[in-house]
Amino acid sequence: MQKGGVGKTTTSINLAGALANRGHDVLAVDADPQGGLTLKLGHREQYREGEYALYDVLSEMGQLTLDDLDELIISGDEFDIVPSHLRNFRLEKHLYSEARGVEALKLALDRLTVDYDYVVIDSPPNLGPLADGALLAAENVLFPSHANTIAKDSLEILFDEIDTLEDKFDDVNISTVAAVLNEVGRDGVSSEMQNWFVSTFGEDYVFEIPDWAVVEHAIEYRTSVFAYNPDDAGYSWDADKAEALRDKYDAIAAHVEDLS
Ligand SMILES: Nc1ncnc2c1ncn2[C@@H]1O[C@H](COP(=O)(O)OP(=O)(O)O)[C@@H](O)[C@H]1O
Ligand SMILES: [Mg+2]
Repeated sequence: MQKGGVGKTTTSINLAGALANRGHDVLAVDADPQGGLTLKLGHREQYREGEYALYDVLSEMGQLTLDDLDELIISGDEFDIVPSHLRNFRLEKHLYSEARGVEALKLALDRLTVDYDYVVIDSPPNLGPLADGALLAAENVLFPSHANTIAKDSLEILFDEIDTLEDKFDDVNISTVAAVLNEVGRDGVSSEMQNWFVSTFGEDYVFEIPDWAVVEHAIEYRTSVFAYNPDDAGYSWDADKAEALRDKYDAIAAHVEDLS
């Protein structure tokens, strides 16, 4: 979604956690120069002062090349990550100017020597070569969205972008994984919006994540909800909701497994 604050990063972290919890080896790539995923998982120093950045790998301007994505990987208890870096703000401009710029992330991921079962890419909140690069690399897209009328417009713009990419790159076919309606309030989603999402994506492809403090508490704890320990975090009353939230993200992970 070419929009900030809809839950892209939250969904990326919890989907990666859910897939890892199912026993998969998972890599989460932070393709957003703002570094939400990296910062939320506690890698502030790497983001600000790390020696190497995705910029170095994708631009091949320094010592690293597309063969060296491995160098960036940080191993985690739940899943590994390719962190973001302040320097990645330069990437957007750089990738625009390169003929094969948008394909760089795909090429770098293809050349990873570590095997992962799933790679989850957290996109920036704008349509540009980084978001295009994520779509090309993954060839699968999951749409975290608020269930409001603005979402329809954002999604239509995004669908157009996907069509443009598929036209431009012959062998690229981008599949829809799911729509995740995020921060659903206690009154639920209006039937009009519900119908729109179900008719656009299909009934089995629409998931809802409630607007719950436990979502933020788990992120504050720097893990997905699957590794979140409410007692240790000082929110012992979160236990039931954490369990319910795990079930919700696990259902998305199960759906992802089915599709693959
Ligand atoms: N389901 C939810 N319930 C409560 N807070 C949420 C939920 N999803 C996201 N948030 C909060 O909303 C903010 C924006 O979410 P984030 O995932 O960073 O959005 P994006 O990556 O699209 O910019 C964060 O502070 C996050 O903790
Ligand atoms: Mg984000």
